Amino acid sequence: MCGIVAYIGRREAKPILLEGLKRLEYRGYDSAGLAVLNGKLEVARAVGRVRVLEELLAHEGGFDGSMGIAHTRWATHGEVSERNAHPHRDDAKHGHGIALIHNGIIENYNVLRRYLLEKGHVFTSDTDTEVLAHLIGELYRGNLERAVQAALREVTGAYAIAVMCEEEPDVLVVARKGSPLMVGVGNGEYIVASDSSAIVAHTTQAFTLEDYTVARLTRDSFRTATIDNVELTPEIRELEFDLGQIELGNYPHYMLKEIYEQPEALRRSMQGRVDPRAGQVVLGGIAQFARDLARARRVCFVGQGTALHAAMVAEYLFEDLARVSTEVDFASEFRYRNPIVEDGTVIIAISQSGETADTLAALQEAKQRGALALGLVNVVGSTISRETDAGVYLRVGPEIGVASTKAFLGQVMVSTLLALYVGRRRILSAERVGDLLQGLQRIPDCVEQVLENSDHIKDAASRYIDRENWLFLGRGYNYPVALEGALKLKEISYIHAEGMPAAEMKHGPIALIDNGMPVVFVATRNSQYEKVLSNIEEVRSRGGHIIAVATEGDDDIRRHCEEVFFVPDVPEPLQPMVTVVPLQLLAYHAAVMRGKDVDKPRNLAKSVTVE
Ligand code: G6P
Repeated sequence: MCGIVAYIGRREAKPILLEGLKRLEYRGYDSAGLAVLNGKLEVARAVGRVRVLEELLAHEGGFDGSMGIAHTRWATHGEVSERNAHPHRDDAKHGHGIALIHNGIIENYNVLRRYLLEKGHVFTSDTDTEVLAHLIGELYRGNLERAVQAALREVTGAYAIAVMCEEEPDVLVVARKGSPLMVGVGNGEYIVASDSSAIVAHTTQAFTLEDYTVARLTRDSFRTATIDNVELTPEIRELEFDLGQIELGNYPHYMLKEIYEQPEALRRSMQGRVDPRAGQVVLGGIAQFARDLARARRVCFVGQGTALHAAMVAEYLFEDLARVSTEVDFASEFRYRNPIVEDGTVIIAISQSGETADTLAALQEAKQRGALALGLVNVVGSTISRETDAGVYLRVGPEIGVASTKAFLGQVMVSTLLALYVGRRRILSAERVGDLLQGLQRIPDCVEQVLENSDHIKDAASRYIDRENWLFLGRGYNYPVALEGALKLKEISYIHAEGMPAAEMKHGPIALIDNGMPVVFVATRNSQYEKVLSNIEEVRSRGGHIIAVATEGDDDIRRHCEEVFFVPDVPEPLQPMVTVVPLQLLAYHAAVMRGKDVDKPRNLAKSVTVE
């Protein structure tokens, strides 16, 4: 989703801003822009990639100066066009030379726009952001910080903004509500960005702006205050990852790099948390709520996208291993269906970024209604992790690829740990937990084994990449895996794919099956194996081509399939972490062979910070 970078310091701003934008490219965007203030404002904007903007700047020359703002836009209000790209400026005639970049949505922009039109403002774009720039200009009385505060008091919606004004050439003002924003504190310089990946090249000291907070930055100092001007002291902390973690290395794509990082990510995720001999899971982050969890009457998992699929696995785990009544829902639906939150309800938000607007809103809604709020989140210090009562970090390292892979495995791993943690306190014996923990410790090696088959999977993919419709089917624990396999394929290769419970196929989708249609079955040996075999036959007899994910040693299954991807045998509750891996590779290879930009799929954003 939109990316923000802003700089004030003693170095040339332009290269720092462009480099920052490139680091944020993974968030997803459709246009980019940059402004530098050096006496006068200079603004450039372009549709398409950051390199288009870079070429434009090289061609135009200028843009010298040591303060500037830059933005990648993911369209919400107004089409993708140069005039809708950020930065936006205040009124050309009556303005003060204000330039602004914005991530989020100003919900009452229509009312504000009408008010400003009456005052004679002339707008040059269709965006909600331009309205905010004009409003700040309208309220400007010689102090940019005050004008921003005053404007934000009139605004409803979400925002992370960075603002400059020609009349105050040494001041950069940034603010946030609902959309992430972080201020990197360097030596005589500040780098502001939507996430730390654009900051870590310059400094590892940073603070996160709280909601309804404004920061006024000069080259030597900063001041933070609420929009009502109550002064605050933010906590400066050390950012945890270094640059190496977010560079490609020898991999052609981040997605592939992250798929290959999965074994290591899982080991990190488990480190210090499992003790198979004692049959014990140690989760320090939630220890103080152990009793509440053991007594929980209902657990509700919420998430979006891949995180929702992990939440669906978590539902099976919790009901199966902890015997707690569990439900799972899209965060976006949970929030608006007037959910029943009784005593003893625990809401668990699953999120890689910790910034997904719908997930955050669902969590807040349930918390407000009295639920204990927990988070399974990857990004340390993210909004969701701060809004929860407690949580467990995934520890899989930064995920840059838009198509989530290692975060999914981390989410399932941590859900498994949590289910065992709660299960042990309710019904599971130490022996049973110990056995499953031993199985869990083998999972990273099992994933490694699957990765060795990448070429075989690529070969199989090559035979089907011209087919535009695919089905992904599974049962039980592997039903969410089928959904995730379909999502991966459509996200990056733009092939239409549907995932569903294998049994559901008979109730409609079977009509789609024609000669040679690829149908992917997760058909590992488990309690539902025989039933899945029957479903395979139903597809085959109608001409479908079967691609199966099956258990190593199940040579029989070859007779039922065109292609088989074997995975090591692991206990049923742990299968998703292994069975999903061939499907990730299948989607990756299909997308590469179809010539798609795997790390920057069209229309998608890594972190969706609007509802
Ligand atoms: C976006 C991403 C997905 C991700 C989802 C939830 O749609 O493209 O890959 O699964 O958001 O993100 P979260 O950060 O909450 O896990």
